[in-house]
Amino acid sequence: MPPKSKRPYLPFGDLQTAPWYGKHILSVKQFSRGDLEYCFGVAHEMRIMVERVGTFDLLKGKILANLFYEPSTRTSSSFMAAMQRLGGAVIPISEVRYSSVAKGESLPDTVRTLGCYADVIVLRHPEVGSAALAAAHSQKPVINAGDGAGEHPTQALLDSFTIREELGRLDNLTVTMLGDLKYGRTVHSLARLLTQFNGIKLNYVSPEALRMPQEVMEEVKAKGLPQAGHAKLDPVLPETDVLYVTRVQKERFDDPAAYEQVKNAYVITPRVMAAAKKDMIVMHPLPRVTEISLEFDADPRAAYFRQMEYGLFVRMALLAMVLGKA
Ligand code: NCD
Repeated sequence: MPPKSKRPYLPFGDLQTAPWYGKHILSVKQFSRGDLEYCFGVAHEMRIMVERVGTFDLLKGKILANLFYEPSTRTSSSFMAAMQRLGGAVIPISEVRYSSVAKGESLPDTVRTLGCYADVIVLRHPEVGSAALAAAHSQKPVINAGDGAGEHPTQALLDSFTIREELGRLDNLTVTMLGDLKYGRTVHSLARLLTQFNGIKLNYVSPEALRMPQEVMEEVKAKGLPQAGHAKLDPVLPETDVLYVTRVQKERFDDPAAYEQVKNAYVITPRVMAAAKKDMIVMHPLPRVTEISLEFDADPRAAYFRQMEYGLFVRMALLAMVLGKA
């Protein structure tokens, strides 16, 4: 288990009724099925509240430090919007080159500093394990918003919330992950998270060089889920309920020539999708480069823009949970 915050600071609330209060969120491995159902229930309530009233005061007086060492549009702005829609405030640090990081400050010291001013810290960092390192030095909850090619737990939570809202279930699904499964942290987290559900089959479609890491496949295997790697999409597309497309993670390649070789390995077009079910969905954590053609956007199965919106509700739920208000 990841370390719990060392110094709980909320003077109220029964921790039995707020089980996520003060906890770091570092990996999807922390979430039992019951935890997931609970989080989705809170996210669903957040959705209703946002649609009805827009902004409300659940986290009034609370401060989020949003610390991003890597580029981000959706994750950083949805966390900021989530905090503000709950009546809280944000310290945004997305240009670490203008912070003391540029003077050589270590991650533990930066996190210690932000913990003096904020109640919760959202961190994105290029190194695997950075969120756990930050958490070990933070007296305030740290939420992992992506640690290199490691995990992206809040994305996996919003991805599964999307599946639940769109298809009405998280059991008995064939989920096909496509693209960069080696460096794509979102698929590492999502594959792990889906092991909590029943009747899930996982297909991994990728170039040979970008296969799903052995470590993740071992974990999925240990939970007894059927899974198989493929080089081509055609054999598995007709059975697919969720096609999860990913961007080839250019920034994680040491060799630019190796990136050039695989960057256009798969492109989803209306023509390709003619072979898929009518009641399936296509997801993508975004940003998209060339892997889904713009012509497909008008297809009702294209769920990736709706997926971004679900992210707001899930991140509102997570902030409320770790601050003891859900
Ligand atoms: C993803 C990420 O940062 O891992 N983006 C996101 O958070 N929505 C996917 C990507 O960058 O390709």
